[in-house]
Amino acid sequence: MKKILITGSNGLLGQKLCEKLLSKNYFVIATSRGQDRINFSHPNYTFVVLDITNFDQLKNAFEKHLPDVIINTAAMTNVDACELNPYDCLMQNTKSVEMMVTILESLQTTEYTPHFIHLSTDFIFDGTKKMLTEDDLPNPLSVYANSKLESEKIIQRSSLKKWAIVRTILVYGVAKDMSRTNIVLWVKNSLEQNKTISIVTDQYRTPTLAEDLADGCILIAENEATGIFNIGGKDFMSIYELACKVADFFHLDKTLIKPSLSTEIQQPAKRPPVTGLDISKAQKILGYNPHSFEEGLAIVAKQLAHKN
Ligand SMILES: NC(=O)c1ccc[n+]([C@@H]2O[C@H](COP(=O)([O-])OP(=O)(O)OC[C@H]3O[C@@H](n4cnc5c(N)ncnc54)[C@H](OP(=O)(O)O)[C@@H]3O)[C@@H](O)[C@H]2O)c1
Repeated sequence: MKKILITGSNGLLGQKLCEKLLSKNYFVIATSRGQDRINFSHPNYTFVVLDITNFDQLKNAFEKHLPDVIINTAAMTNVDACELNPYDCLMQNTKSVEMMVTILESLQTTEYTPHFIHLSTDFIFDGTKKMLTEDDLPNPLSVYANSKLESEKIIQRSSLKKWAIVRTILVYGVAKDMSRTNIVLWVKNSLEQNKTISIVTDQYRTPTLAEDLADGCILIAENEATGIFNIGGKDFMSIYELACKVADFFHLDKTLIKPSLSTEIQQPAKRPPVTGLDISKAQKILGYNPHSFEEGLAIVAKQLAHKN
């Protein structure tokens, strides 16, 4: 049975991966800083406390379990917090990856070739080109973006025989006890509470359902695919359009959504105006087939109904 170690198992993607991998009969080593918030009771599931900035904890976990695949979802994901705390961001998003790579390089032999799958972002680009391919040239605009690009370079320069970088974009979905919300849930909750929200009309993305992202990562693991893969949604829209679609889908008051420009919203970190990921490589090589945004909203609605 293949052993897959997940970092950041308490996070949105981490939770989806654990759930899907267990249903596919993998042995899952879920790791998070702090306690297990998903608590699966399953014979193929084990939980390890692991702070990815702690070299000894990383080394112990990797040496003890010798996972066939490591999916590194853990990161400091709040872009504005990264801008305000660049040291923490560097430690969690770049140094941690350097440590993982160093440990895996030292464990790698002819018999043991771990597959290291690392999560990156559309934010490594400057937002001047719509629908980016894996070959487009990055130009990060923020501390977060830079930390992720540096982590990519560490992996690309490494002597690891099997690595993949998964670039994803604006992830949404439902998970247990989440430490962060996401755009879809935030818009829905705000409108339900009759709050007026300012939403940018000049930023464009291809939003990604967390389940689709997990499927993309699993396809990479199953195909032992290497290199860079864009794993995102298939619908391109502005954040304003996205918010309106959420309002329409959940029958909420769209007039509470105020169209704004990025320059009118005070945010510490600069965002790339237009991104969007071209997913044709993943579709062709992996058979990746994400849901439409409306289908994704229907899945979110169903999960929220089960939760309440
Ligand atoms: N969400 C997006 O829109 C988006 C877009 C592009 C790329 N990505 C990338 O995709 C990956 C997954 O994102 P996500 O949406 O699942 O993010 P998430 O829900 O914020 O999950 C990230 C997890 O990382 C954990 N973490 C942070 N620092 C850690 C540390 N030092 N040691 C161990 N765990 C740590 C967090 O732990 P706590 O729960 O304890 O805080 C959290 O559970 C990330 O690498 C992110 O950069 C995400």
